[in-house]
Amino acid sequence: MLPFAEKNVLLGICGSIAAYKACELASRLREQGARVDCALTASARHLVQPAALEALTGTPVITDMFPLVTCPEQGHIAVAQRAHLCLVAPATANILAKAACGIADDWLSTTLLATRAPILYAPAMNTNMYTHPATQANIEILRKRGAAFIGPASGRLACGTEGLGRLADIPDILDAAFCAVHQDKDFSGKRVLITSGPNHEPIDPVRFIGNRSSGKMGRALALEALCRGAEVGMITGPAQVNPPSGVKTTQVNTADEMYDAVLSCMNEYDIIIGAAAVADFKIERPETGKIKRGEDRIVLHLKPNRDIIAAVAGAKRPGQRVVGFAAETDDLLLRAEHKLRQKRLDMIIANRVGGEACAIGADHADAYVLIPGQDPEKLEYATKSHLARTIFDRLLALD
Ligand SMILES: Cc1cc2nc3c(=O)[nH]c(=O)nc-3n(C[C@H](O)[C@H](O)[C@H](O)COP(=O)(O)O)c2cc1C
Repeated sequence: MLPFAEKNVLLGICGSIAAYKACELASRLREQGARVDCALTASARHLVQPAALEALTGTPVITDMFPLVTCPEQGHIAVAQRAHLCLVAPATANILAKAACGIADDWLSTTLLATRAPILYAPAMNTNMYTHPATQANIEILRKRGAAFIGPASGRLACGTEGLGRLADIPDILDAAFCAVHQDKDFSGKRVLITSGPNHEPIDPVRFIGNRSSGKMGRALALEALCRGAEVGMITGPAQVNPPSGVKTTQVNTADEMYDAVLSCMNEYDIIIGAAAVADFKIERPETGKIKRGEDRIVLHLKPNRDIIAAVAGAKRPGQRVVGFAAETDDLLLRAEHKLRQKRLDMIIANRVGGEACAIGADHADAYVLIPGQDPEKLEYATKSHLARTIFDRLLALD
């Protein structure tokens, strides 16, 4: 199941130079399962062509109010009613001012009044426009009415200056949109700690032993927890993906560093999920100088790392929940069940690795969710965000 499956998203695009980035955003939303209605303001029409958006979304772009009287399914009321989310990206100072005042003088501003769907603004503008007391007051009014905001980011602006005002990065907008459409705050007040990514175990100052973990599973879990209202901490190895914004993140390299980081803060959390692909072994004595190429064979002596999730489960206080992951090439269920029992976990996710259905580094996984006293639950070719949602649903049912 894709993150925006069965969701209708209205993407309102305003007259900011960042409007061209809305094409990428529309495309990513559609790729992630959304039906996307794009609306261009009159100013935005100078900056992006409807045809590009139509090709990307497969849906006619809305540009005017009145021609739509003969096309009721694109009228402001119809779109306002079917939208699960109204995303205004980029949002100009002008649309924020109009929305704060309830002005309805074009299709987009009228639809923002007519909808009861969540509204997410991604502002983009010159720093002085953004920090102007009028804009800040408008944002405050809209926030108080329940609108969400993502960004702006800092950096180089199209007007040639550096500062606050850049449209937030597209992955951050997508995360915020995902949170806005999934409104169940059933983990609010809970604190969730997630380990993520691979470990790098040094061989010498420039080389390491690693694994193929991307950190996508840990990221999906962090985003799901955030969306459901939890406070989220993440201890991550060198992953390919960044943690979602809003997560308190600690970066580590080795399994020893991860062990120390997790054990030192685990008491602060209600739920601890070990999604990291922790290195089982480390080099016994890493070289301090770079190993030189030579004709001789090199033998690396490995010794086992400490088992992080077993230590966490062993030290957990009453009421704390601990979830582990088992990545196995063979005897998947048998080994996962053994780990669940032996480590006294509340839940374990068994992932097959190796071969075609390898979960490590992939966007999908064939997985089993195992809970003591329950039959294993099989999830076939599930996206990592679907798997993350299932894990939190099952955690909720444990309480
Ligand atoms: C090239 C260009 C770039 C602009 N970029 C921005 C911008 O990034 N943010 C902003 O608030 N206004 C920007 N403006 C000004 C808006 O287009 C103007 O305020 C307009 O009235 C906004 O209308 P709309 O909110 O209906 O799209 C820009 C104008 C031009 C000509």
